[in-house]
Amino acid sequence: MAGEKPVLVVGATGYLGGQVVAELLKRGKRVRALVRPKSDASNLAAKGVEVVRGDMLDAGSLTDAMAGVDAVVSTAAGYTRNDRNADAIDTFGNSNLAVAAKQAGVRRFVLISILTSDQTPQVPHFWHKKLAEDKLEQLGVPFVALRPGAFFDQIAGMRGDPFQKGRIMWFGSKETPLTFVLTADLAAYLAAAVDADIRDGERIDIGWTRPVSMLEAASLLSRHRELRNGSNDGGKDISVMSIPTPVLQVAGKATSRFAPLVADMASMSAWFETGKYVADTGRQEEVFGAVPTPEDAIARFAAKYGH
Ligand SMILES: NC(=O)c1ccc[n+]([C@@H]2O[C@H](COP(=O)([O-])OP(=O)(O)OC[C@H]3O[C@@H](n4cnc5c(N)ncnc54)[C@H](OP(=O)(O)O)[C@@H]3O)[C@@H](O)[C@H]2O)c1
Repeated sequence: MAGEKPVLVVGATGYLGGQVVAELLKRGKRVRALVRPKSDASNLAAKGVEVVRGDMLDAGSLTDAMAGVDAVVSTAAGYTRNDRNADAIDTFGNSNLAVAAKQAGVRRFVLISILTSDQTPQVPHFWHKKLAEDKLEQLGVPFVALRPGAFFDQIAGMRGDPFQKGRIMWFGSKETPLTFVLTADLAAYLAAAVDADIRDGERIDIGWTRPVSMLEAASLLSRHRELRNGSNDGGKDISVMSIPTPVLQVAGKATSRFAPLVADMASMSAWFETGKYVADTGRQEEVFGAVPTPEDAIARFAAKYGH
């Protein structure tokens, strides 16, 4: 490992990026992280990660960060934290990363994209991923893009322990099935993608064996609560509290000038309701092995909360 060129992780301070770093270290990789000047990198440094300060909006800093790297994994995004420069980060920032990777001659660029991003120009944060894929392709950067469904653990755990609360928050239809992933699985795939036998330019859907509706997911979760509680839970299922898409759309119109993310989320919710947010997991199985079933994934999620 000592003489090996590092893998640069962009987004390492994030929810998914932190797990990618752990997976790379587990595989014996040297890891370098690009971290914005004001962000806390102490956890990363404590794990032996080389921290390089920079910003996707500062092209010069990317040249330094990519000098001498073997590969890049980027999970970074501006919209996820509603950054005041979100749009610029997800467009110019991603473009800057692609240019820097081309100049540095990286062997492989692993990009986290989004399922169906190439079909959804009406959902800005989806479309920005498609544009990021295209930019890498246009520049001839050897890249692979993983296109996952929605992050189940992040959504179900959004307001704290869903077993204690007895509730999951959602937006849009509770009945329409869609593809979910666990971020722990996705992080392992992203780390594996650095060396996996994948053709340059492949976009790979990532998800569970079948799409599930939020109501079905809540019912699967409820079973785990029953298993632990026996009959003491009073028979109450975990419920889904959802903001209807039309409500989001009205809010999105009213706030479009100062909070464009609301309209973006409303468009996403409407897209979910078409039933087209569904992964074809054939290639995922070939490259990363057996695809998790919803039952298996939700059991692992429940185990994290002691159920
Ligand atoms: N949530 C879902 O259901 C879902 C589904 C499909 C795909 N995804 C994708 O998954 C990815 C990871 O999401 P997440 O939950 O891990 O997001 P997150 O926790 O908000 O992390 C975002 C990361 O990006 C970094 N970043 C933002 N702007 C930057 C800049 N200008 N320069 C350098 N780094 C910058 C942040 O660094 P700071 O610490 O400096 O803020 C942070 O490390 C995103 O790309 C998202 O599009 C999410």
